[in-house]
Amino acid sequence: MQGVLFDLDGVITDTAKFHFKAWSRLAKEKLGVVLPASFESDLKGISRIDSMNRILKFAKMADKYSAAEVDAMAQYKNDLYLKEIGKLTQADILPGIENLLDELAANKVKLSVASASKNAPFILEKLGLRQQFDAIADPAKVAHGKPAPDIFLEAAAKINADPTQCVGIEDAKAGVQAIKAAGAIAVGVGNPSDLAEADTVVSSTEELTYSVLALAFQK
Ligand code: BG6
Ligand code: MG
Repeated sequence: MQGVLFDLDGVITDTAKFHFKAWSRLAKEKLGVVLPASFESDLKGISRIDSMNRILKFAKMADKYSAAEVDAMAQYKNDLYLKEIGKLTQADILPGIENLLDELAANKVKLSVASASKNAPFILEKLGLRQQFDAIADPAKVAHGKPAPDIFLEAAAKINADPTQCVGIEDAKAGVQAIKAAGAIAVGVGNPSDLAEADTVVSSTEELTYSVLALAFQK
């Protein structure tokens, strides 16, 4: 196992509720629609602009706004979201993650972040975890969002690792598909029925240990 490629939102910290809160407010204020609760999980792993377009489609307003207006709405959502994530501290790291990072470092496994979020460096700073990672792939630099493999390929390249010799960890269906498309071993965190394509699924981050990852890698 040369490297571990980490999703961030939902694996390192639980930000889905903040994304959903910000999208819900935008949808209500700017589009006059109420987002169903299912959007919280439907938008997991989906880039900001793709999420915006899905919401416009749901509101039946897909062709109503110019690209500049759509960008401005996505920016408004991000401003709301930044207010929430600005409050994150080390206490918001999901259970088991700090221990896992220590174990991987002790075993000389390189650590790379493969998040769709442009806010990943800021979130890692807030959590006090920035120094633990060898690299953060920049989603602005890849052509296609998850479920395409691009961000996982970039995350592996940034630590000079062969993607087939890496384990990826994801909480989203689109993310698991992206890991598999990159040729890496996929460990899913969450509901096995949503993450059926993963090589191994655990129900919570507490179960993510070096030995679970090593076992998934050897499978
Ligand atoms: C993913 C989240 O990690 O990042 C998505 O699961 C989010 O919900 C995406 O839309 C992009 O995030 P950001 O912070 O760049 O808007
Ligand atoms: Mg995620």
